[in-house]
Amino acid sequence: MKLRRWIAAGAVAVATAAVLTSPATAGRPYDPTDQSLRNLALRHGLAVGTAVDLAALNDPADPRYRELAASEFSTVTAENAMKWESLEPTRGTYNWGPADELVTFARQHDQRVRGHVLVWHNQLPAWLTNGVADGSISTAELRDILRRHITNVVTHFKGRIWQWDVVNEAVSDPWDTPSTLHYKGFWAEHLGPGYIADAFRWARAADPHALLFYNDYNIEAFGSRDPANDKTQFVYDMAKQLRAKGVPIDGIGSQGHLGTQYGNFDTFQVVEALRKFAGLGLATAFTEVDVRSQLTEGVQAGNEAEINPRLQAAAANFDVLLQACLAERHCLSFTVWGFTDKHSWVPGWFTDPPEGMATIYDENYQPKRAYQALKADLIYSGPPYVLPRIPQRPRR
Ligand code: XIL
Repeated sequence: MKLRRWIAAGAVAVATAAVLTSPATAGRPYDPTDQSLRNLALRHGLAVGTAVDLAALNDPADPRYRELAASEFSTVTAENAMKWESLEPTRGTYNWGPADELVTFARQHDQRVRGHVLVWHNQLPAWLTNGVADGSISTAELRDILRRHITNVVTHFKGRIWQWDVVNEAVSDPWDTPSTLHYKGFWAEHLGPGYIADAFRWARAADPHALLFYNDYNIEAFGSRDPANDKTQFVYDMAKQLRAKGVPIDGIGSQGHLGTQYGNFDTFQVVEALRKFAGLGLATAFTEVDVRSQLTEGVQAGNEAEINPRLQAAAANFDVLLQACLAERHCLSFTVWGFTDKHSWVPGWFTDPPEGMATIYDENYQPKRAYQALKADLIYSGPPYVLPRIPQRPRR
């Protein structure tokens, strides 16, 4: 009986994957002999993804990167290649090359693409930020530039993007000044928070089939529930207002950048947050998961008594996020922000104190405990608590 139920669930997942087959939502049938994350996740209708560093993907001296990017993942995100500074380094001249390469790679390997990112305050081209700073770009022109950017980019990739991160990290953190949560950064400062609704509308107009996401960090679980200091609550309220106004937002991306030095969450707290977003009619996704650790002197010296607890804590945190995603049927994908410590943004960004060890494979492409935790979650879950995804249809 149990066995039959598992097989039935597998059949539903396969059928779901098949129905979704289109350029933006490519798929592959479940193969019972294949133990890769992407294949194991198919039974749940879940996509497992990674951010891709195009330089590593194209490095002939590093073939394992390309092999694993293809074999372990069913969705890919450009780590940097679709950001504004990469796409339009010179005003009016788009450089589509690397981003197109990734889309082609995805197509060759039956992968879907998460588009990242249309509107963000970081990695903007200098001509744009300088133009605003020196007054040569007016507010009205800035709004027009943003509209044209979104339209150009979404149109260029039309039909090839499954989920777009339309707006990224628009909300402040409790450690900012003022500490009361607010809309922060370049776009809010120059255009006011109305740019968020505009961005979703412009994106929808350019590609009616892509799912449109708001993406942010530190929104894995609720805290105090006071929007003045609980970022998850703030984003929830924002999404609710956007939906109430008919803004075409389809999902919330929870980045999932965690660290083993923090308290973090249990699975049920994370499930609760995903359910609340689902209650607004929104899909969810984990979009940039990694779990960094402090590289103490002991860790750097190879002291196992310091390394092992970090590897285990990292695995536990990956595990919590994936279990929560599996448990909520509107959680469509689970993407890691790089899959190997050989190519991770963490050591370059978190230097004081130094941090690293944040991904699921070590620097030699050996799977870490975190990889095994994800694999176990995918294997040993199923009905009644884990059921196949409910596909999200773009809101009109
Ligand atoms: C990071 C990339 O990984 C780095 O290579 C780059 O130098 C800076 O940006 N949140 C996001 C991602 O939405 O775009 C960021 O990616 C990591 C934090």
